[in-house]
Amino acid sequence: MCREGALHTAILRHVTDALNPLPDSPALPSHPVFTARGLSKVYHTGELDVVALNGVDIEFNSGELVVLLGPSGSGKSTLLNILGGLDVPSSGQLSYRGWDLTNVDEHTLTLFRRNCVGFVFQFYNLIPSLTARENVALITSIARDPMTPEEALDMVNLGNRMDHFPSQLSGGEQQRVAIARAIAKRPEVLLCDEPTGALDITTGITVLEAVERINRELGTLTVIITHNASMAQMADRVLNLSDGQVVKSRRNETRLPVRQLDW
Ligand SMILES: Nc1ncnc2c1ncn2[C@@H]1O[C@H](COP(=O)(O)OP(=O)(O)OP(=O)(O)O)[C@@H](O)[C@H]1O
Ligand SMILES: [Mg+2]
Repeated sequence: MCREGALHTAILRHVTDALNPLPDSPALPSHPVFTARGLSKVYHTGELDVVALNGVDIEFNSGELVVLLGPSGSGKSTLLNILGGLDVPSSGQLSYRGWDLTNVDEHTLTLFRRNCVGFVFQFYNLIPSLTARENVALITSIARDPMTPEEALDMVNLGNRMDHFPSQLSGGEQQRVAIARAIAKRPEVLLCDEPTGALDITTGITVLEAVERINRELGTLTVIITHNASMAQMADRVLNLSDGQVVKSRRNETRLPVRQLDW
């Protein structure tokens, strides 16, 4: 997995062939996981330029659980997608563990995504004709040092649903399969874009408990985008985006267990 000692192995073997250390940062594990400096993203659509990110300076540290809030269109998904190598910034710098991610080729980004990042989206994107176990196995079959699908599904409390198809699972259960799929490769980073956006509160809680457990037990840096401000209390740190900028960053002295959140 992409953590500490193993980080070196994973990165050196699979990512750094094409990732260059920044000149002033010797790529040590003590670096923040991500460092963004002046990160900007402008989408050109027809005549129109849309500034989605406008000079974001931010760091994300190992093992943190970060909640990202902000109005629709403020750039939350854009930031998450750039962190996870799904999109590239227009300007500015982004480093992962001291390695420059900004100007790398698609092959390197693919390796980075495959080895280091798990994604969870609002809609679960499971393959309907595969069981929960098979959906997770698709990923574990191409990962280095993965968990077994059974271990991953146990972590999200779905040990008794492994042979169910998505259509035989509730929304919350499907999302937990998606989480198991995301973390089965033991990524250093878990990026969740509105993971409870399509769920009612009770179901959302079971999903967030799975995320919380993974963050706590695996030490996975976890970033969760939400429109639900009450989720802020479960985080180590809460970031507010507005108009493509981080306008507020605060740290919670204590994290509230998901069950105790005031919905
Ligand atoms: N691929 C794209 N092409 C053009 N414009 C885009 C693209 N992706 C995002 N945008 C624009 O960039 C801005 C930021 O979008 P983004 O999806 O990051 O917002 P968001 O904070 O995630 O919003 P929401 O809460 O609605 O999901 C928006 O104005 C959006 O229209
Ligand atoms: Mg979004």
